[in-house]
Amino acid sequence: MELFRTKSEVMLFRRSVRDSKRSLGLVPTMGALHQGHLELVGRALSENQVVLVTIFVNPTQFNNPEDLEKYPRSLEADLDKLRAVSDSLFVFAPEISEMYQDQVVSRPYDFDGLDAVMEGAHRPGHFDGVGTIVEALLSLILPDRAYFGEKDYQQLQIIRKLAQMRRIPVEIVPCPIVREADGLAMSSRNALLPPSLRDKAPFIHNCLQLTQSLFGTKSVPKIEQTIQEAFAGEPDFDLEYFQIAEAATLKPARRKEAEKQYRAFVAARLGGVRLIDNIALN
Ligand code: PAJ
Repeated sequence: MELFRTKSEVMLFRRSVRDSKRSLGLVPTMGALHQGHLELVGRALSENQVVLVTIFVNPTQFNNPEDLEKYPRSLEADLDKLRAVSDSLFVFAPEISEMYQDQVVSRPYDFDGLDAVMEGAHRPGHFDGVGTIVEALLSLILPDRAYFGEKDYQQLQIIRKLAQMRRIPVEIVPCPIVREADGLAMSSRNALLPPSLRDKAPFIHNCLQLTQSLFGTKSVPKIEQTIQEAFAGEPDFDLEYFQIAEAATLKPARRKEAEKQYRAFVAARLGGVRLIDNIALN
């Protein structure tokens, strides 16, 4: 495994991959790696001759300074996990100054409404930060394919839009959500859950499964009411939003249209830890 710390090292690497006509897959992460990340890496290894994983806790996508400070960081353990998947991986783990030079700020983006709802509405500036770092990584690395998890479905749609808007010639590959045995979607933030509340966490996925089972027969407002009432009965949870939306546009669903795909999305705090999850409904 080879570790790069600077953009110039990555540019030399990129050139040698291109010169040898090998395909390149990119897996961007913020580290604190878990099986969800490793599935993306495995998929990238199966579809590309060379795979680069980036590990960078991107400061500009954290709307809350305390969240940035608490975010788990574990580079050595992450490198061990990647080595265990494959010794032929390349890793880019830059310092903040390498990605942001003198000003740690994001650029403003217009994602055509995709950023106006859910995570975009509840985390001001978050998607400008994501756009800024993902655009910088895609333009630097110019991968043939880049892998993103459906765990962050809104982010996935925004990155597809970004690549299209900026005409970056990359295939954005969506990967299914990886869950713990009890249904909790894997997340670097799960490590921050107070142990006494950990067994409550699958409630989120249970609500999404209930939504899926009701979707065929009940109206959208009725389902939303049912789920909001369920959360109201769980005092350990603080529901930020529950939303049924069109999968492509992320516009809130009013009534179901036969030819459209829908997903349900949740953000909730448990023991002060913000958890998000989503599920396909049809
Ligand atoms: P991070 O939260 O580290 O996630 C990196 C990638 O792993 C994202 O594409 C995310 O959707 C995916 N992922 C995380 N948990 C997953 C799970 N349980 N199942 C499937 N995929 C999962 O998302 C980011 O970092 C950042 O915003 C980033 C894109 C790297 C930009 O800074």
